[in-house]
Amino acid sequence: MPTVDWNRRTWGGTHTWERSGDEWAHMAAYCGQPYEEWKAGLVEELLAPGAARGTSLEIGPGHGRWTEHLLELSPRVWIVDVNESCLDRCRERFEGRHGLDVHHTPGYSMDPVPDASISFVWSFDVFVHLDPDVISGYLGEVARVLEPGATAVIHHAGKPDWSLRLAPVNRRAGRPGRIAQRWLSQRRWRDDGNRSDVSPEAFAGWVREAGLEVTGQRTSWGPEGQYTVDKYRDCVTELRKPV
Ligand SMILES: C[S@@+](CC[C@H](N)C(=O)[O-])C[C@H]1O[C@@H](n2cnc3c(N)ncnc32)[C@H](O)[C@@H]1O
Repeated sequence: MPTVDWNRRTWGGTHTWERSGDEWAHMAAYCGQPYEEWKAGLVEELLAPGAARGTSLEIGPGHGRWTEHLLELSPRVWIVDVNESCLDRCRERFEGRHGLDVHHTPGYSMDPVPDASISFVWSFDVFVHLDPDVISGYLGEVARVLEPGATAVIHHAGKPDWSLRLAPVNRRAGRPGRIAQRWLSQRRWRDDGNRSDVSPEAFAGWVREAGLEVTGQRTSWGPEGQYTVDKYRDCVTELRKPV
C-alpha cells in the first residue's frame, strides 16, 4: 500500500512532472479518447458545477493541473498537499492570481481551514494512492470544512471488494499469495498504478461513517460515457454534506 512517506518521496522526489500533471494522458489513451477532450469533459461535468458555487478546496494539487480550473471558477481556492515542493510550484505558477490559500499537511489534517467554510472539495489522482486510515482521516476533515449542502468529488481506487476480502488469506500464503492477490485485485501481473487496496463499497462506507452522503459513484463521464478511469479500474465518488 502507498504510505504517506511513499507519497512524499514519489511526488516530491522521483516524479519529474515534465508536463505538470498532463503527462498522465494514459487514462484517456486507454479509453481511446484524445487527452485534451477527456480532461475538458471531466472539468465541465465534474469540476465546474461545484467550483462555481463558492470557495473550493483541492487535496493533492501536484503542480496545479486542476487548480488552474478551480481558480478560474472559484473566488477562493485552498490547496492542501503533503509535499512542500508541489505547493511551491503552485505558488510560482499561480503567482498574482487572487484567492489562493495554501496548507502543507502532515497527512490529512487541514487545521487552518475554518469549519463549514468550503462549498466544494475536489481531488483527482490522489486518493488512488492513499491508505484507508488517511482516507478516513480526510473524510472526517472534509465533513468538518464543508458547508451544509456542499459537495465533493473524489477519485479513488476501485478494486473489487471480494478480492480485498481475500487479501489476509493471500498474505498468509507468502509470495505466491501476494501475486495471486495482485492479480485478483487488478487482473494485472505488474502495473496496478500503485493503487491502494480500496473498493468503491469500502470508500462509500467511510463517507457515511464521516456523516456525509454518497450521491453517486461512477467510472465514466461525457455524453456517451466515453471518458473513463478504467485503466486501473478506478472510481469517482460524489458526496454531499447533509443540510
Ligand atoms: C499523482 S499526483 C496528482 C497531482 C494532481 N492532483 C494531478 O492530478 O495532476 C499526487 C498528488 O497528491 C499529493 N499527495 C499525496 N498524498 C497526499 C496526502 N496525504 N495529502 C495531500 N496530498 C497528498 C502528492 O504530493 C501529489 O501532489
